Formats: sequence, structure tokens, C-alpha cells
Amino acid sequence: MNKLRFQTFTIAFITGLTLSSAPVQAAGDNHSRNLAASCAACHGTDGHSVAGTPVLAGMDKKLFVTQMKDFKSGARTGTVMNNHAKGYSDEEFEKMADFFAAQKR
Ligand code: HEC
Repeated sequence: MNKLRFQTFTIAFITGLTLSSAPVQAAGDNHSRNLAASCAACHGTDGHSVAGTPVLAGMDKKLFVTQMKDFKSGARTGTVMNNHAKGYSDEEFEKMADFFAAQKR
């Protein structure tokens, strides 16, 4: 392979990588997905709860963040969510909120 062809190949390859990774980002990055996965034990896969725990899928982003902050601060009392919410930063609440808001109810 001569130098020019190799460069053309490299550029095409990198462009392809960039384009193919874009839709994955839009659907919620891996970090958001991983955060949400730790809620699945009680709130179901992607927030589709089946066992009487509140459904998170499709929850309004602002409502979600408010509730998580209230659990964290103790403004709202619950059984397990107060302890659970303490493990996350406000930035992570935002990421989770985006993820769950994007799920269909
Ligand atoms: C051990 C089970 C359990 C886990 C794990 C869990 N939750 Fe909960 N969640 C509950 C229960 C039970 C409630 C009802 C309030 C309470 O008793 O604390 C609740 C309530 C909520 C509510 C309020 C919903 C509403 O409409 O009132 C939100 C928001 C929430 N959880 C988000 C999450 C998120 C985000 C995670 C993961 C980071 C998570 N929960 C992990 C059990 C759980």
C-alpha cells in the first residue's frame, strides 16, 4: 500500500468510527445505562417496574431530579431510597433522569 492510499484508508476508517458511534451517544451513553442498571433490581429493566415499585420509565426529568434530591437531603422520607440516593451526585441524577425520561412507559 503506498502512502497516499494508506492515509485515505485511515481517514475513511476514522470517519466511519465517528459516524457509527454517534447514534449510541444519543440514546444514552454507557455511564447513564450503567447507573440505571443499579435501579433495575427494584424498578425493573429500564425503569419498567413490575413488582409495585414506582415506574421510572418515561418519568418527567425535572420530577425525577427533584425526587432524587429530596431523598438525598431527607426532605422526602422513604424506605430504601434515602440511602440509595446518597450514593449519587447531582450530575448523575441528571444523567439518570435523561435515561429514564427517554424510555417509553
Ligand atoms: C432496593 C430496592 C430499590 C432500589 C435498588 C432502587 N429503588 Fe427507587 N424506590 C424504591 C422504593 C421502595 C420506592 C418508594 C419510596 C421508598 O419507600 O423509598 C422508590 C422510589 C423511587 C422514586 C420515586 C418515584 C415516585 O414516583 O415517587 C424514584 C425517582 C426512584 N425510586 C429512583 C430510583 C433510582 C434512580 C434508583 C437507582 C439509582 C433506584 N430508585 C433504586 C426501591 C428501590
